[in-house]
Amino acid sequence: MKIQLIFSNKFSTRILFSLLLFLSFILCSGFNGLTRDNSKGFPRARECQKCHQEIFDEWQASAHAHSFVNPRYQDATDGYDFLRCISCHAPQPGLSDERPEPRDMEQSEGVTCVACHLEEGRLAGPLDPWLWEFVLPHKVSVDPERYTRSRFCGRCHEGTFAEWQAAETDGEKYSCQVCHMPPIERKSTQASNILAEIAVAFEKVTAQKRHLFQRIPLTLPEEAFTLEAQKINSTKVAVMLHNHLPHNVPTGDFGVRIVKARILGIDDHGGETLLFEEELIKELKSALGPGSIKRWELDLTGDTRHLTVRLLRVGADPSIEESIFSGEVMLP
Ligand code: HEC
Ligand code: HEC
Ligand code: HEC
Ligand code: HEC
Ligand code: HEC
Repeated sequence: MKIQLIFSNKFSTRILFSLLLFLSFILCSGFNGLTRDNSKGFPRARECQKCHQEIFDEWQASAHAHSFVNPRYQDATDGYDFLRCISCHAPQPGLSDERPEPRDMEQSEGVTCVACHLEEGRLAGPLDPWLWEFVLPHKVSVDPERYTRSRFCGRCHEGTFAEWQAAETDGEKYSCQVCHMPPIERKSTQASNILAEIAVAFEKVTAQKRHLFQRIPLTLPEEAFTLEAQKINSTKVAVMLHNHLPHNVPTGDFGVRIVKARILGIDDHGGETLLFEEELIKELKSALGPGSIKRWELDLTGDTRHLTVRLLRVGADPSIEESIFSGEVMLP
């Protein structure tokens, strides 16, 4: 249903629907629960889904939605035995810069929408809403500065944020959101029923951010890694991998964080020979720091024409390797 198409004059449409909305909200006040955070209830993500369908789908597929029910978290807490672990895995709503307080309601929702958006009875965000506030289904507060900076993520991602703060970069130091919430042109609202349809009918398409929180982001503003090779002698070569990310590879404070660096020699017929492999592990101080360069010296086989360097993320199940980077370098 595309309600706005019936009317031609934008301004009269806006007034008419504002009135309609106002009336419908007075009549049903059906959306009061969205900003309620007390013993009578807690706004669950599926309530936001009624009008923010696409953001909901993205969040639902992310680790944030499963941070409490994640079996590895359950194991590590001996079946939810440690209260101090709950604060970031099932946080209370609130937007301070401090580590969040633990929540005792709807814990299975994990890092849910209101954990990042609810404060003092308002749903805060980075964008100016299109409609006047009194006709919106929930109160809104606008704070782009807070939402686009790394500290927003850093109150839970403490270790990675510390790496980011200490990182020295050549150019601009991008915030977490730039890479882990890729940009998209769209409306933040899509409705699932008639009343919600009226509520969201007017939003315009603008530049927004996807809630993917991917652990290997695919959309980066610049190259994450670059390669270089230097000849040492006729059979030896040095390969340099430069990390341009503003945090370690691998990064993360908890669980298994291993990245494999694998170097293959490629011959004239495309045949591959494994020349070298190393595990980068934060705990063993072998992670590649932000801005730093890893240098490997390799013995070549006679028919090697060029090299392929791969970075692979090894998951909790070591048989699953996800590609972070693959690049080729010609022999000097
Ligand atoms: C309220 C605490 C909290 C905030 C704020 C938060 N996160 Fe998270 N994040 C978590 C927790 C807890 C996990 C681990 C979930 C799991 O794997 O079970 C996580 C997981 C992730 C992962 C996946 C890591 C992996 O290994 O799979 C990424 C990427 C991520 N967060 C990015 C972000 C970004 C970017 C921001 C800021 C926009 C952010 N987070 C803000 C708590 C938070
Ligand atoms: C881990 C924190 C986090 C969680 C969880 C989260 N958001 Fe967001 N949200 C953000 C951040 C950060 C931005 C702003 C990103 C930017 O502009 O750089 C944002 C932006 C938005 C916006 C503004 C439009 C846009 O896309 O930029 C809306 C609406 C929104 N979120 C709704 C939701 C809903 C609904 C959920 C749950 C399904 C949710 N968010 C879950 C952090 C979060
Ligand atoms: C009945 C429909 C409806 C429901 C349900 C709903 N929203 Fe909204 N939301 C809207 C509309 C409409 C806007 C204003 C969009 C505009 O004009 O830009 C909005 C705006 C927002 C914004 C402000 C975006 C910004 O950048 O300032 C955030 C954040 C947000 N909603 C989060 C949520 C969360 C979290 C929930 C669930 C607790 C939720 N919404 C439930 C309709 C809804
Ligand atoms: C320039 C892009 C970029 C920026 C900015 C960035 N990241 Fe990443 N992030 C990546 C890439 C690429 C990976 C995959 C490689 C890796 O594991 O280091 C990643 C991986 C991660 C992981 C997953 C680690 C794992 O293997 O489970 C987390 C968590 C994370 N980043 C959090 C953050 C936080 C928090 C910030 C801000 C302080 C941030 N990132 C800033 C690009 C970026
Ligand atoms: C300061 C916030 C914070 C606290 C407190 C916290 N975590 Fe986490 N946890 C995170 C974040 C962020 C991630 C994802 C990225 C990372 O590892 O840094 C995570 C990820 C995890 C993972 C990895 C999940 C996976 O899928 O691999 C486990 C396990 C875990 N946490 C267990 C715990 C335990 C046990 C405690 C209590 C001792 C705890 N956490 C306390 C923020 C926190």
